[in-house]
Amino acid sequence: MSESREEEARRRSVRSFVRRSGRMTGSQQRAVRELLPRYGVAFGTAPLDLDTLFGRRAPRVLEVGFGNGDSLLAMAAANPGVDYLGVEVHEPGVGHCLLGIEGAGLDNLRVISHDAIDVLREQLPEASLARVNLYFPDPWPKKRHHKRRIVTPGFLELVASRLVPGGALHIATDWEHYAESIDALLTRTSLFEVDERRAHGGDRPLDRPATKFEQRGLKLGHRIWDWRLVRPAA
Ligand SMILES: C[S@@+](CC[C@H](N)C(=O)[O-])C[C@H]1O[C@@H](n2cnc3c(N)ncnc32)[C@H](O)[C@@H]1O
Repeated sequence: MSESREEEARRRSVRSFVRRSGRMTGSQQRAVRELLPRYGVAFGTAPLDLDTLFGRRAPRVLEVGFGNGDSLLAMAAANPGVDYLGVEVHEPGVGHCLLGIEGAGLDNLRVISHDAIDVLREQLPEASLARVNLYFPDPWPKKRHHKRRIVTPGFLELVASRLVPGGALHIATDWEHYAESIDALLTRTSLFEVDERRAHGGDRPLDRPATKFEQRGLKLGHRIWDWRLVRPAA
């Protein structure tokens, strides 16, 4: 096996999440059973035709790890001219989001219940996304778990390749040490330009609604860091 393949295999075996069984409410179970076939997209290794999926041409936004989906639902409802794709591995969150899509009658939001790294790599064509949102990724605060953090040079490379030139990656975190490591990665890459960076007390979110994990962090007394990173146009 060549070195790059070994590296690839190692990277794929380290996931940014552990599957938590999590209690599903009855309505979340019904949502996954009945609404996932309607508003969901099955994971597969063939690239998606997003124009066919959404039945139109429009700018497309991907949210990685949307949690319970409340902020994703709010963005989709506020921007009917934009198509949203949410990817999450936590089934109760997927159920919650599906119920929100049904309740609001949204036709510009679809969800995929799978590892977002696989979805980006296999299902999303190059230069197909106007924006990728990564809000409050799992911080993996213990040093021995840092390798599980989703923001790595490989992640930045993968996201950059799926964004259209001029497209943006938005990241937010409430973990200072994670923020420092993201800043350090950004000084070493030419794939993104830092269009805006904010450190704030929860009062200046960067073009996004507040999220559940942000509220949790604020209650713990954490500060918030937001970045808008742009893939250079040329
Ligand atoms: C700390 S929570 C934040 C949830 C939400 N964005 C918020 O701000 O409230 C991180 C979420 O990312 C999800 N996640 C982690 N790695 C993922 C991956 N590779 N693909 C999809 N979801 C992932 C987890 O299941 C979890 O729900």
